[in-house]
Amino acid sequence: MKFFIDTANLNEIREAASLGILDGVTTNPSLIAKEGKPFKETILAICNVVDGPVSVEVTATDAGGMCQQARDFTTWHKNVVIKLPTTRDGVKACKCLSDDGIPTNLTLCFSANQALLVAKAGATYVSPFVGRLDDISHVGMDLVRDVVQIYKNYGYKTQVLAASLRHPLHVVEAALAGAHVSTIPFKVLDLMFRHPLTDRGLDQFLKDWEKVKS
Ligand code: E4P
Repeated sequence: MKFFIDTANLNEIREAASLGILDGVTTNPSLIAKEGKPFKETILAICNVVDGPVSVEVTATDAGGMCQQARDFTTWHKNVVIKLPTTRDGVKACKCLSDDGIPTNLTLCFSANQALLVAKAGATYVSPFVGRLDDISHVGMDLVRDVVQIYKNYGYKTQVLAASLRHPLHVVEAALAGAHVSTIPFKVLDLMFRHPLTDRGLDQFLKDWEKVKS
Protein backbone atom coordinates (compact mmCIF):
# COMPACT_ATOMS: atom_id res chain seq x y z
CA MET A 1 0.00 0.00 0.00
CA LYS A 2 1.24 3.48 -0.85
CA PHE A 3 1.43 6.07 1.92
CA PHE A 4 0.47 9.65 1.14
CA ILE A 5 0.52 12.36 3.79
CA ASP A 6 -2.68 14.35 4.25
CA THR A 7 -1.41 17.83 5.10
CA ALA A 8 -0.09 21.05 3.60
CA ASN A 9 2.24 21.68 6.54
CA LEU A 10 5.80 21.76 5.21
CA ASN A 11 7.44 20.73 8.47
CA GLU A 12 5.20 17.67 8.69
CA ILE A 13 5.83 16.84 5.04
CA ARG A 14 9.61 17.20 5.45
CA GLU A 15 9.57 15.02 8.57
CA ALA A 16 7.45 12.34 6.85
CA ALA A 17 9.63 12.44 3.72
CA SER A 18 12.76 11.97 5.84
CA LEU A 19 11.40 8.57 6.96
CA GLY A 20 11.89 7.28 3.41
CA ILE A 21 8.45 5.67 3.25
CA LEU A 22 6.40 8.52 1.82
CA ASP A 23 4.90 8.11 -1.67
CA GLY A 24 2.90 11.32 -2.10
CA VAL A 25 0.81 14.13 -0.62
CA THR A 26 -2.86 15.07 -0.61
CA THR A 27 -3.99 18.63 -0.01
CA ASN A 28 -7.33 20.37 -0.05
CA PRO A 29 -8.25 24.07 0.20
CA SER A 30 -8.94 23.75 3.96
CA LEU A 31 -5.52 22.18 4.66
CA ILE A 32 -3.78 24.90 2.62
CA ALA A 33 -5.78 27.70 4.30
CA LYS A 34 -4.63 26.38 7.69
CA GLU A 35 -1.00 27.11 6.73
CA GLY A 36 -1.77 30.77 5.95
CA LYS A 37 0.40 31.01 2.81
CA PRO A 38 -0.70 31.58 -0.81
CA PHE A 39 -2.05 28.52 -2.61
CA LYS A 40 0.47 28.24 -5.46
CA GLU A 41 3.47 29.00 -3.24
CA THR A 42 2.41 26.21 -0.86
CA ILE A 43 1.94 23.65 -3.63
CA LEU A 44 5.30 24.45 -5.23
CA ALA A 45 7.06 24.16 -1.88
CA ILE A 46 5.44 20.75 -1.30
CA CYS A 47 6.43 19.56 -4.78
CA ASN A 48 10.03 20.51 -4.02
CA VAL A 49 10.06 18.27 -0.93
CA VAL A 50 8.29 15.12 -2.16
CA ASP A 51 8.99 13.40 -5.45
CA GLY A 52 5.59 11.76 -5.82
CA PRO A 53 1.98 12.62 -6.66
CA VAL A 54 0.71 15.83 -5.02
CA SER A 55 -3.07 16.28 -5.16
CA VAL A 56 -4.13 19.87 -5.86
CA GLU A 57 -7.83 20.63 -5.67
CA VAL A 58 -9.76 22.78 -8.14
CA THR A 59 -12.23 25.33 -6.78
CA ALA A 60 -14.31 25.90 -9.92
CA THR A 61 -17.66 24.10 -9.77
CA ASP A 62 -18.40 23.80 -13.51
CA ALA A 63 -16.61 21.30 -15.73
CA GLY A 64 -15.16 23.96 -18.04
CA GLY A 65 -13.77 25.98 -15.15
CA MET A 66 -12.37 22.84 -13.50
CA CYS A 67 -10.55 21.84 -16.70
CA GLN A 68 -9.18 25.35 -17.12
CA GLN A 69 -7.83 25.40 -13.55
CA ALA A 70 -6.51 21.85 -13.96
CA ARG A 71 -4.58 22.74 -17.11
CA ASP A 72 -2.99 25.65 -15.26
CA PHE A 73 -2.09 23.52 -12.19
CA THR A 74 -0.42 20.87 -14.37
CA THR A 75 2.05 23.50 -15.64
CA TRP A 76 3.20 24.15 -12.05
CA HIS A 77 4.97 20.82 -11.54
CA LYS A 78 5.15 17.38 -13.16
CA ASN A 79 3.87 15.65 -9.99
CA VAL A 80 0.61 17.59 -9.71
CA VAL A 81 -2.51 15.39 -9.62
CA ILE A 82 -5.78 17.24 -10.19
CA LYS A 83 -8.24 16.82 -7.35
CA LEU A 84 -11.84 17.12 -8.50
CA PRO A 85 -15.06 16.88 -6.50
CA THR A 86 -17.21 13.82 -7.21
CA THR A 87 -20.06 15.79 -8.78
CA ARG A 88 -21.56 15.61 -12.28
CA ASP A 89 -19.21 18.38 -13.40
CA GLY A 90 -16.29 16.77 -11.60
CA VAL A 91 -16.91 13.50 -13.46
CA LYS A 92 -17.22 15.35 -16.80
CA ALA A 93 -13.96 17.19 -16.14
CA CYS A 94 -12.35 13.92 -15.08
CA LYS A 95 -13.23 12.30 -18.41
CA CYS A 96 -11.75 15.20 -20.44
CA LEU A 97 -8.59 15.34 -18.34
CA SER A 98 -8.15 11.54 -18.34
CA ASP A 99 -8.51 11.48 -22.13
CA ASP A 100 -5.62 13.95 -22.25
CA GLY A 101 -3.51 11.83 -19.89
CA ILE A 102 -3.80 14.23 -16.93
CA PRO A 103 -3.87 12.36 -13.58
CA THR A 104 -6.90 12.95 -11.35
CA ASN A 105 -8.05 12.27 -7.81
CA LEU A 106 -11.83 12.31 -7.36
CA THR A 107 -12.47 13.54 -3.85
CA LEU A 108 -15.48 13.70 -1.52
CA CYS A 109 -16.58 10.21 -2.56
CA PHE A 110 -19.23 8.87 -0.19
CA SER A 111 -20.92 6.07 -2.16
CA ALA A 112 -20.05 3.04 -4.28
CA ASN A 113 -22.11 4.48 -7.14
CA GLN A 114 -19.99 7.62 -7.13
CA ALA A 115 -16.89 5.43 -7.20
CA LEU A 116 -18.25 3.50 -10.20
CA LEU A 117 -18.92 6.73 -12.08
CA VAL A 118 -15.43 8.08 -11.53
CA ALA A 119 -13.80 4.79 -12.57
CA LYS A 120 -15.76 4.87 -15.82
CA ALA A 121 -14.50 8.44 -16.35
CA GLY A 122 -10.93 7.16 -16.07
CA ALA A 123 -9.97 8.66 -12.70
CA THR A 124 -6.45 7.83 -11.53
CA TYR A 125 -7.54 7.80 -7.86
CA VAL A 126 -10.86 7.82 -6.03
CA SER A 127 -10.95 9.11 -2.45
CA PRO A 128 -13.61 7.51 -0.24
CA PHE A 129 -13.87 9.63 2.93
CA VAL A 130 -13.87 7.16 5.81
CA GLY A 131 -13.86 9.43 8.88
CA ARG A 132 -16.58 11.75 7.62
CA LEU A 133 -18.87 8.73 7.07
CA ASP A 134 -18.03 7.45 10.57
CA ASP A 135 -18.96 10.93 11.85
CA ILE A 136 -22.53 10.43 10.63
CA SER A 137 -22.77 6.89 12.03
CA HIS A 138 -22.01 4.99 8.82
CA VAL A 139 -19.12 2.52 8.73
CA GLY A 140 -16.80 4.43 6.40
CA MET A 141 -14.49 1.48 5.85
CA ASP A 142 -17.37 -0.55 4.34
CA LEU A 143 -17.24 1.89 1.42
CA VAL A 144 -13.53 1.25 0.90
CA ARG A 145 -14.16 -2.53 0.94
CA ASP A 146 -17.05 -2.23 -1.53
CA VAL A 147 -15.13 -0.02 -3.94
CA VAL A 148 -12.06 -2.29 -3.90
CA GLN A 149 -14.31 -5.28 -4.68
CA ILE A 150 -16.27 -3.50 -7.43
CA TYR A 151 -13.08 -2.32 -9.14
CA LYS A 152 -11.69 -5.88 -8.94
CA ASN A 153 -14.88 -7.32 -10.46
CA TYR A 154 -14.45 -5.20 -13.59
CA GLY A 155 -10.71 -4.63 -13.73
CA TYR A 156 -10.97 -0.86 -13.31
CA LYS A 157 -7.53 0.76 -13.11
CA THR A 158 -8.63 3.56 -10.73
CA GLN A 159 -6.72 3.30 -7.46
CA VAL A 160 -8.64 3.39 -4.19
CA LEU A 161 -7.16 6.11 -1.97
CA ALA A 162 -8.55 5.78 1.55
CA ALA A 163 -9.02 9.35 2.83
CA SER A 164 -10.34 11.12 5.90
CA LEU A 165 -8.45 8.61 8.07
CA ARG A 166 -8.52 9.59 11.73
CA HIS A 167 -6.56 6.93 13.65
CA PRO A 168 -4.04 4.10 13.12
CA LEU A 169 -6.72 1.40 13.03
CA HIS A 170 -8.18 3.08 9.96
CA VAL A 171 -4.85 2.50 8.18
CA VAL A 172 -4.82 -1.19 9.15
CA GLU A 173 -8.41 -1.60 8.01
CA ALA A 174 -7.71 0.17 4.72
CA ALA A 175 -4.77 -2.18 4.14
CA LEU A 176 -6.93 -5.23 4.94
CA ALA A 177 -9.59 -3.93 2.56
CA GLY A 178 -6.99 -3.74 -0.21
CA ALA A 179 -6.92 0.04 -0.64
CA HIS A 180 -4.07 0.98 -3.00
CA VAL A 181 -3.22 4.13 -1.02
CA SER A 182 -3.86 5.53 2.45
CA THR A 183 -3.56 9.25 2.91
CA ILE A 184 -2.54 9.73 6.50
CA PRO A 185 -2.54 12.83 8.73
CA PHE A 186 0.87 13.41 10.35
CA LYS A 187 -0.48 12.76 13.84
CA VAL A 188 -1.77 9.34 12.75
CA LEU A 189 1.50 8.48 10.99
CA ASP A 190 3.32 9.28 14.22
CA LEU A 191 0.98 7.06 16.25
CA MET A 192 1.59 4.14 13.85
CA PHE A 193 5.16 3.84 15.14
CA ARG A 194 4.20 3.55 18.75
CA HIS A 195 3.97 0.42 20.85
CA PRO A 196 4.69 0.29 24.60
CA LEU A 197 6.25 -3.17 24.28
CA THR A 198 8.74 -1.83 21.74
CA ASP A 199 9.73 0.97 24.15
CA ARG A 200 9.92 -1.39 27.13
CA GLY A 201 11.86 -4.03 25.16
CA LEU A 202 14.36 -1.50 23.83
CA ASP A 203 14.83 -0.03 27.27
CA GLN A 204 15.69 -3.48 28.64
CA PHE A 205 18.08 -4.27 25.75
CA LEU A 206 19.94 -1.00 26.34
CA LYS A 207 20.20 -1.66 30.08
CA ASP A 208 21.58 -5.16 29.42
CA TRP A 209 23.99 -3.82 26.79
CA GLU A 210 25.44 -1.51 29.45
CA LYS A 211 26.33 -4.64 31.50
CA VAL A 212 28.31 -6.33 28.73
CA LYS A 213 29.64 -3.68 26.38
CA SER A 214 33.22 -3.66 27.68
C1 E4P B 1 -7.81 14.00 1.48
O1 E4P B 1 -7.66 13.91 0.29
C2 E4P B 1 -8.98 14.61 2.12
O2 E4P B 1 -9.12 15.93 1.73
C3 E4P B 1 -8.85 14.49 3.61
O3 E4P B 1 -8.46 13.16 3.93
C4 E4P B 1 -10.11 14.88 4.36
O4 E4P B 1 -9.95 14.56 5.71
P1 E4P B 1 -10.94 15.11 6.87
O5 E4P B 1 -12.28 14.48 6.67
O6 E4P B 1 -10.29 14.69 8.14
O7 E4P B 1 -10.99 16.61 6.68
